[in-house]
Amino acid sequence: MRVGVLTGGGDVPGLNAAIRAVVKRGEGEHGHSVIGFRNGWRGLADGDVLPLTRQHIRNVLATGGTLLGTARYHPNEADGGIDAVLATLEAERIEALICIGGDGTLHAASKVAEAGVRMVAIPKTIDNDVWGTDRSIGFDTAVTIATEAVDRIHTTAESHNRVMIVEVMGRSAGWIATTAGIAGGAELVLAPEAPFDIDRVVRFLKHRHRAHASFSIIVVAEGAVPAAGTSMEYETQLGRFGEIVAGSVSERLKAEIEQRTGFDTRVTVLGHIQRGGIPTPADRILGSRFGVAAIDAVTRGETGVMTALRGDDVVLVPLADVAGKVKHVPAEMLEVARALA
Ligand code: F6P
Repeated sequence: MRVGVLTGGGDVPGLNAAIRAVVKRGEGEHGHSVIGFRNGWRGLADGDVLPLTRQHIRNVLATGGTLLGTARYHPNEADGGIDAVLATLEAERIEALICIGGDGTLHAASKVAEAGVRMVAIPKTIDNDVWGTDRSIGFDTAVTIATEAVDRIHTTAESHNRVMIVEVMGRSAGWIATTAGIAGGAELVLAPEAPFDIDRVVRFLKHRHRAHASFSIIVVAEGAVPAAGTSMEYETQLGRFGEIVAGSVSERLKAEIEQRTGFDTRVTVLGHIQRGGIPTPADRILGSRFGVAAIDAVTRGETGVMTALRGDDVVLVPLADVAGKVKHVPAEMLEVARALA
């Protein structure tokens, strides 16, 4: 069988582990030919192919990024995009497609599957917001990096008696903020799931700096927003592709905190560092498990499904149930972050 594979949306560490698993298992176990498409859906629409062999996957398990390249392009949102995809699949005689991506890629995958293409998807995003799976590839590495950053910020915050704001990624979900905040022992975690009241933040900081310690670390998700009706007005600033503008929430917070408390405050925006470098063992393992599950599923003739982690098990969930939904941080985890402040 000729099986296509692509990686779409933002890159994450662990993608190469998944590609490697698809090629190794596909070629070695099932006798398939695996055809990569460069730069996500863009390459599939343009017919930009990279036939993958053992050569391409040698020594990639521990590498970050994606050996196939990626792009923020979705054929379902472009004029004639789906037709171009179908034309390439026919020209390349591709019988099944494995798409590795986050929400946008998965949405496109579900549309292409509806057009009759045998399709299995794999969830990846540092945001961990893909519905239907406990974990997405890349999240563990991002949390590890963000936690290390909070640990490092700790010593300089304490030395200078400062309020340190650490902004992490996550779009409209607070998974990285909450988990790195708990793991790094942040004094405050501000996540989109629990809109904040700046008056309470200021009261908390004043009380802490008077009674306990003269420094504080606030981990804020890029998508965090003030609660409606509170004294800070702020709407999430969006960029050209609807992405949240990095640094906008933390700079607003810094200005409010400095003005209302007089405390010396600094901002660190972690940005793309969270998506770079080598994947953690957990992401290598998850990428490998999802890759094997996906190629096995297409071999069995499954279609319109996504690999997912449920507890300790890898299962398949219907793609149509996943697309367009956001998995948010549960209240219990937000409460742990709040209670341990
Ligand atoms: O979805 C992953 C993510 O890293 C988000 O956390 C972030 O908002 C966005 O992508 C950044 O996008 P880009 O890499 O296109 O700037």
